[in-house]
Amino acid sequence: MKIFLNFLIPAILFAACGPQERISKTVFDEVNKGMEAKKLSEAQITQEAMIWGDSISNEAQQQLMANLHKAVNEQGATGALSFCSVNAAPIIKELSEKYGVIIRRTSTRARNEENLPTKEEFPILDAYQYNAENGIENDPNIQAIEGGDVLLYTKAIVISTEFCLACHGHPKKDIETGTLSKIDSLYSRDLARDFEVGDLRGMWSLKIPKKAVVLRF
Ligand code: HEC
Repeated sequence: MKIFLNFLIPAILFAACGPQERISKTVFDEVNKGMEAKKLSEAQITQEAMIWGDSISNEAQQQLMANLHKAVNEQGATGALSFCSVNAAPIIKELSEKYGVIIRRTSTRARNEENLPTKEEFPILDAYQYNAENGIENDPNIQAIEGGDVLLYTKAIVISTEFCLACHGHPKKDIETGTLSKIDSLYSRDLARDFEVGDLRGMWSLKIPKKAVVLRF
C-alpha cells in the first residue's frame, strides 16, 4: 500500500499540472481579441502562470519576512505577534490588488482560522504533507479550477529556520510563556504550534485568472 501511495501521489500532482482542462471559449475569445493581446496556447498560459506565481509568492514572502524580522528585532517575539495579526493580511491583500491575483497562505494547522484550506486547497496540502513526511521534494503545483478559467498555483511553506519557532515551536521549550499567553489571547483556536525546523508549515495559494496571464503580454 505504501509503495502504491508513493507512486500515486506524485502522479496525481503531476497529472494536475497537465493542460487537460480547457479554457472556456468566452474567456479565450475575450483575451485574444485586440491588437495588443498576443495569442498564447494553453500550455504557454500554464507555463507563464507558473513563472508569475513563483515570482509573486517570492515577493509576498520577502515582504512578510522583511517586516517580521524588523518587528522581532524591535519588539521581540511577543511584540511582533501584533504585527503578524494586524499586518500580515493587509500586506498580502495589497499585493493581491496590485497583480489582480488572489493570494493566500493556507495551512491545515492554521493560527488564524481564515487561513484554513478550502476544498480545492486541502488535497494539495495533504499531498505536500505526505511528500514532506516521506522525503519527496515538494515542487510548486498548478491546476485549472473554476471551470478552467482560473489557475491555482501553490508552493509549500517550510519552517526553514529556528526563527519561526519563537512563535510556531513547542510551547515553553521554544515559545516563551509571555508570547504563548499573547498567542492564546489573540487566537483562541491556534493550531500553529509544535512545529520543528524542516516541517511543512503550509503553502502559498494563488488564484491566477488565465485572462490576467494573457493580458500581461
Ligand atoms: C513573531 C511571531 C511569529 C514568527 C517569528 C513567525 N510567525 Fe508565522 N504567524 C504568526 C502569527 C501571529 C500568525 C497569524 C497571522 C494572521 O492572523 O493572519 C502567523 C501565521 C503564519 C502562517 C499562515 C497560516 C496560519 O497559521 O494562519 C504561515 C504559513 C506562517 N505563519 C509561517 C511562518 C514561518 C515559515 C515563519 C518563519 C520563517 C514564521 N511564520 C514566523 C506569528 C509568527
